[in-house]
Amino acid sequence: MKAVVVYESHWGNTARVAQAIADGIGPETLVLATDEADVSAVSGADLLVAGAPVLGFGLPTERMEAAVANSGSVAPMPPDTTHPSLRAWLGDLPRGRGQGAAFETRVRWSPGGATGAIERSLERAGYPTSGTPGKFIVTGRYGPLRKGELDRARRWGEALKARLSVA
Ligand SMILES: Cc1cc2nc3c(=O)[nH]c(=O)nc-3n(C[C@H](O)[C@H](O)[C@H](O)COP(=O)(O)O)c2cc1C
Repeated sequence: MKAVVVYESHWGNTARVAQAIADGIGPETLVLATDEADVSAVSGADLLVAGAPVLGFGLPTERMEAAVANSGSVAPMPPDTTHPSLRAWLGDLPRGRGQGAAFETRVRWSPGGATGAIERSLERAGYPTSGTPGKFIVTGRYGPLRKGELDRARRWGEALKARLSVA
């Protein structure tokens, strides 16, 4: 089974969750930032998992990405803005034939979220989603992840794999 986890991350929280999900799916799983996830890396994936932070109540838009790029003076660490957004990446995703799954990192209480938009894009590209999307919590605006979230992410990855194995 080929499994690929693709993520957007500016302060590292979503990247850490992506790695934990991949650990749960299995050792062969590719974990890739958007610019690493080119056509050949994703081609033939049986399971495509995509995740992003919730920024501005949704999947980050170009406007939010610009705000992130300008957040250097208020954020505790400079953001990584070197990778294309997941939104842009999903817009260019070629058609595939695998299963899809979406996850997000977010504060505990927020209206809106990112996983709905991610799921719709995955489904349009031929990766139907099923089951509950992954929602992983940070304790502050820039992180860190709440205690136990990486374990929960690993278990979510294990459950994805189990679902695929019985399908
Ligand atoms: C500018 C900004 C806007 C944010 N907006 C939201 C939001 O609307 N809802 C939410 O749940 N979290 C929001 N957050 C928290 C982020 O989703 C959270 O810190 C996320 O884990 C960052 O992921 P990253 O470290 O992978 O970039 C926001 C954070 C920042 C810096």
